[in-house]
Amino acid sequence: MPTLTKTLRLDGAATSLVFAWSSGVPIAVYHGKKLPADIDLDVLVAISERPLPQATLDDNAAISLHPEIGRGFLGHPALIAHRPSSTAPGWAGQFTVSRQEIRESGVTFGMIDADRGLLLDLNVELDPETDVATFSSSLLNDGDTPIVVDWLSTPVIAPPQQFSQYLAFHGRWCAEFAIERQSIQLGLTKRENRRGRTSHEAFPGTILLNAMTDEETGQCLGLHLGWSGNHRMVLERLTTGDVQLQMGVLLFSGEGTLPPGERMTTPTLYVAHSDNGMNALSQKFHAHVRKHIIRFPVPDKPRPVTVNTWEAIYFDHKHERLTALADAAADIGAERFVLDDGWFRGRNDDTSSLGDWYPDPGKYPDGLQPIADYVRSLGMEFGLWVEPEMVNQQSELFQNHPDWVLGLGNYPRLTGRNQLVLDIANPNVSEYLFERLSELVSNHDIAYLKWDMNRDLVLPGDSSGRATVYRQTGALYALLDRLGAAFSKLEIESCASGGGRIDYEILKRTHRFWTSDSNDSVERARIQTGFSYFLPPEVMGAHIGPAWSHTSGRGLHAGFRALVASYGHMGVEADLTRMSDEDKVIMRDAIERHKRDRHIWHTGKFFRIRTVDDTLIGAQSVAVDQSAARLVLMQIDRPRSTVPPRIRVPGLDRERAYRVQLETVTESLKKANRKFDNPLYHDGFVLGGEALATVGIGLPSLYAQTGLEITIDAMDNEA
Ligand code: DGJ
Repeated sequence: MPTLTKTLRLDGAATSLVFAWSSGVPIAVYHGKKLPADIDLDVLVAISERPLPQATLDDNAAISLHPEIGRGFLGHPALIAHRPSSTAPGWAGQFTVSRQEIRESGVTFGMIDADRGLLLDLNVELDPETDVATFSSSLLNDGDTPIVVDWLSTPVIAPPQQFSQYLAFHGRWCAEFAIERQSIQLGLTKRENRRGRTSHEAFPGTILLNAMTDEETGQCLGLHLGWSGNHRMVLERLTTGDVQLQMGVLLFSGEGTLPPGERMTTPTLYVAHSDNGMNALSQKFHAHVRKHIIRFPVPDKPRPVTVNTWEAIYFDHKHERLTALADAAADIGAERFVLDDGWFRGRNDDTSSLGDWYPDPGKYPDGLQPIADYVRSLGMEFGLWVEPEMVNQQSELFQNHPDWVLGLGNYPRLTGRNQLVLDIANPNVSEYLFERLSELVSNHDIAYLKWDMNRDLVLPGDSSGRATVYRQTGALYALLDRLGAAFSKLEIESCASGGGRIDYEILKRTHRFWTSDSNDSVERARIQTGFSYFLPPEVMGAHIGPAWSHTSGRGLHAGFRALVASYGHMGVEADLTRMSDEDKVIMRDAIERHKRDRHIWHTGKFFRIRTVDDTLIGAQSVAVDQSAARLVLMQIDRPRSTVPPRIRVPGLDRERAYRVQLETVTESLKKANRKFDNPLYHDGFVLGGEALATVGIGLPSLYAQTGLEITIDAMDNEA
C-alpha cells in the first residue's frame, strides 16, 4: 500500500517534475529527463518506495519540499523560527497540505500548521519552453504574536539522481566566477554571504553533477537564487545517501521578525536540468533570462558599443579631454558614451562627495548639458555613472544628514573606499535619491546609468539599531522599480566594484552587468567563462582595456584584448586619445566585426568549447536559425602541447553545409606556425554540420595571449 496517494506531474521541454503526497509536505519523487507521456505515476511512486534500514525511525520518507524536524527529518530543516512571546513557542511542528492550486505549468501547495499559527505556500513553475523550473516559499504568520524567522528555505531540492559533485562559484575582486569542482561531502556544507550585496565571493548558484559530466555530456542540475543581498546555500549529504540543497536569504538576528498577519516570501530559486552536459544547461538558463528576466526598453535594439571614461581619465574631467575622447569614441564606432566617476560636486578623488549628486561647477560650469549634447551630436547615447547607495563623510549630504547612514549605536562606522552606506529603506533617503536621479535623467536626457556599489556592508543597523540588510535589499529594488516606471527608456548597468552584484533579481531591473573591474583579458577570459554558466553574452559588459592593465600589471596586445571583449556587450575602457593609430585600427575593425556578428552572440545558443588543454578557452554562438556560428578561441597561456588539440563545433544543423574561415591571419600567427597546410589557414573550407560536430577542425599553433576568430556560415545562405 503506497504511503503517497496523490500525484502531480509538470513537464518542460525536456524535463519532468513529479510530486507525490498524502497529507504531509509533498515530495519531488522525480526531477530529471522528460518522462514518457504514458508513464503510470502510481507505478512511478510505488517504485520510489524506499527500504526501511535497521536502527532508524519507523519511517524513512524521502526528503520533502520542506523537510521538518517535527516529522523526523534530522538534517538541516527548511524552517527555523520561534514565537518569543507565546506559550506555544512554535519552534517545531508539522505542516499538512490544505490546498493545491494547479496551474497550466505550475502548482502551489498550500500548507497549514494550525498549532503553530503558520501557513506556508510552496510555489513551483516549470516553463514549458525554457525548461527552467522556479521555486519559492511564502510563510504567513497566522497567529496573534510575532514570530521570529531565522531561516526559511526555498522549496528544497533533493535530486533522486544523487549527484556526487558540485561546482562552487566563488571569487574575489577582479576574479569573479572562479569555479571549484568539489565532491558533495557527507554532512553539511554551507556557503554564506554576509556582504550586503550579491558579492564577488559567493555567487548564489551551483551546479550539481557527476564525475563524468562535462560541457557536452552527462547529467547536471543548475541552481541559482535570484537575490542581491545576504544569502545562504545549504548542501547536505545524509547517511541515507540523500542529498538536499536549500537556498534562501541569510537573515541577521531579528531581521526575520514577522508581525501577526504578515508574510515572508523567499527569493526565486531557478533550477534547470540537463541530461547532456553543462552547455545545454546554460542554454536553458540563457533562454529563461531572455524570456523572463531581462526587459530591454527597446526589445530588439542591438546592444550599443560603449566607451566608458573611467580608465581613460579617472577623476580628471576637463571639457577638452572629454570632447577629444568622445570624438575618438565616435571615430572607432562607439554608440554610447558613459561619463564615469568624477563629474559631481567636489569629487576629485575617492575621499569625498558621494551623495552630492549635482554637476561640479568647476568642471562643468554650465552643467552636464554641453557634454551630453556634444556626445549626442556625434551620434552616441549619453550615459552617467552614479553610486546612489553611498555617501562620503566629506559631503554636504552627510553634513546635513549624519543620521541617514547605516551603523550601530556608538560603535565607529567602518568605511570602505572611504565611504559609508545610506539607509535607503528610510523613505527620506530613498526620496532624496529618487529626486536627484530623476532630475539628472530627465534634464539631460540620459539614456543609461552605470549604477555602482563599491563596498560591503558592516554593522548594517538602521536608526533604531535593527539589522537591515534584508530591508535594504528590498529598498534597492523599490528604488530601481520606481526609476524604471518613471523612465521607461532608461537602461541601467549593475556594477559593484565590477561583478559584485550579478544575479537574476537585480537583472529584472537593470540591463547589463559590469562583469569585472579586471580588464586584463587573460583574467577576463576566465571570468567570462564562469559568468556564462548562468548568464547570456548580451548582458556581459566586456570592454577593451588599456595596453597595460592597472589591476594586474599585465601588458597585452590590442588584438587579443579586442578578441576577448568581442563576444559580450562590447565596449572600450581606455584612453583612445593616447592610443597608437595601429591600435585604433585594430579596435575599429574589431568593433565593426562585432556589429556584424552581435546578433549571433546576443540571441544565439552559447557553447563553451573545452579541450584537454585548459589554456585554450573557447566561446561559440550558433544563430537561432543555425545559418551561422561564430567561434572565439583564446590562448590565455603557453599551450600544453606543441600541436593544438582539434576542436569540435557543436550545435549546427547536421544536414547543412557550412563555409568555415579564419577571420584574420595575424603576424603572430604566421610566426607561431612554420608551416600549416590546413585550408582553415588559407581560403577556408566547406564541411557539413554533422562532421563539424563530430570530427571537428584542426587549429594552428597559437602564441600565449593571442587568439582566433572563426566564422561559420551556411552555404545555402550565400547569395
Ligand atoms: C568601480 C567600478 O567598478 C569602476 O568601473 C569605476 O566605475 C569606479 N568604481 C569609479 O569609481
